[in-house]
Amino acid sequence: MQEQAVNPPNGPTAPAWLLERDVNLKPYNSFGLPATARQLVRIRSEADVRRVVDHPSLGRAPKFVLGGGSNMVLTRDIEAVVLKIEIPGLRLLEERDDAWIIEAGAGVPWHELVRWSVEQGYPGLENLALIPGTVGAAPVQNIGAYGIELKDRFDSLDAVDLVTGRAVHLPASVCRFGYRDSVFKQTGFGGLAGKSVITKVRLRCPKPWQPHIDYLDLQRKIAETGISAPSARQIFDWVCEIRSAKLPDPARIGNAGSFFKNPVVSEEQCRDIIGRDPGIVHYPMPDGTVKLAAGWLIDACGWKGKSVGDAAVYERQALVLVNRGQARGAEVVTLARAIQESVYGRFGIRLEPEPILL
Ligand code: EPU
Repeated sequence: MQEQAVNPPNGPTAPAWLLERDVNLKPYNSFGLPATARQLVRIRSEADVRRVVDHPSLGRAPKFVLGGGSNMVLTRDIEAVVLKIEIPGLRLLEERDDAWIIEAGAGVPWHELVRWSVEQGYPGLENLALIPGTVGAAPVQNIGAYGIELKDRFDSLDAVDLVTGRAVHLPASVCRFGYRDSVFKQTGFGGLAGKSVITKVRLRCPKPWQPHIDYLDLQRKIAETGISAPSARQIFDWVCEIRSAKLPDPARIGNAGSFFKNPVVSEEQCRDIIGRDPGIVHYPMPDGTVKLAAGWLIDACGWKGKSVGDAAVYERQALVLVNRGQARGAEVVTLARAIQESVYGRFGIRLEPEPILL
């Protein structure tokens, strides 16, 4: 790897700003897939983004924003300039009557923010413990778990436009949050995919705090322990235990969390499937549609433990694809397509991948 100063530091205290070439991305994606970034710049501040935008050659080149790399499948080298987001910072911004507003730099690992907030006594994020990835990536796919989504705690964010270099402040109303979706993932009209870099995120930890413990896995913990009114700290610990038991730790076994979204079908479609497969796990939604457990559908098709090369379906959770060691992105994609075909063949349902396939 070669390093080259893009802008010479303006004095002994100015941080060096380097363009790195031919960077191995394997350590930077949670699947541990091999790929190379032709050019990579570490972004440690909003000013760093502006410097890239203003740069005579980098400014016009296509860019690719990389957070924790926990929601992507790399199938090839990246020719675009990779902006690796490493913006630090974690603070209580404001205490209001109805909430604590906390602010985090986009490069902070999400779980670090959750742990910090619980330890500081700003409850509300505990159900989202142990989700891999960075703070800046959390709004992109509106992360969610155990009955809470990021949008339920979102206040606003700062981003920098990759064309103009202008900083913008975005409230929830313009983020178009949906199930594992937001304006930052959308490419259609008004979509911001690839157009901006999220630099800071602000979250609302509500007062008074109320526990969210409806999910079956949390109800089981309550029954096991006899703790019927858990604290935020207790829920944090339970969520960590539940996730560690059923989801692989990306530091040990490469993966990108749930590989497919849980599909939403009409009530009629669901009745039809139940007629054939009474055991199907399904959740009626407030709008009359029904969400199906994709993990169950995949499991029912017999995929647990099956593999293509080193890409495999996790034995303990069929919704998670893993890298058993030397998997390549193409193997992950081949396995995912085969799963989609078999689920479609048996249930008539098209599964949609959750991570971005590159
Ligand atoms: N199931 C099976 N077989 C399997 C996997 C699941 O039968 O191999 C059944 C389970 O028994 C359970 C149901 O499917 O009754 C749902 O499984 P689980 O509770 O593990 O949740 P999920 O729907 O698979 C979703 C999110 C997770 C989140 C959990 C908890 C999606 C795509 N995934 O998983 O989010 O942590 O609920 O809220 O919405 C992620 O997005 O990366 C992620 C991990």
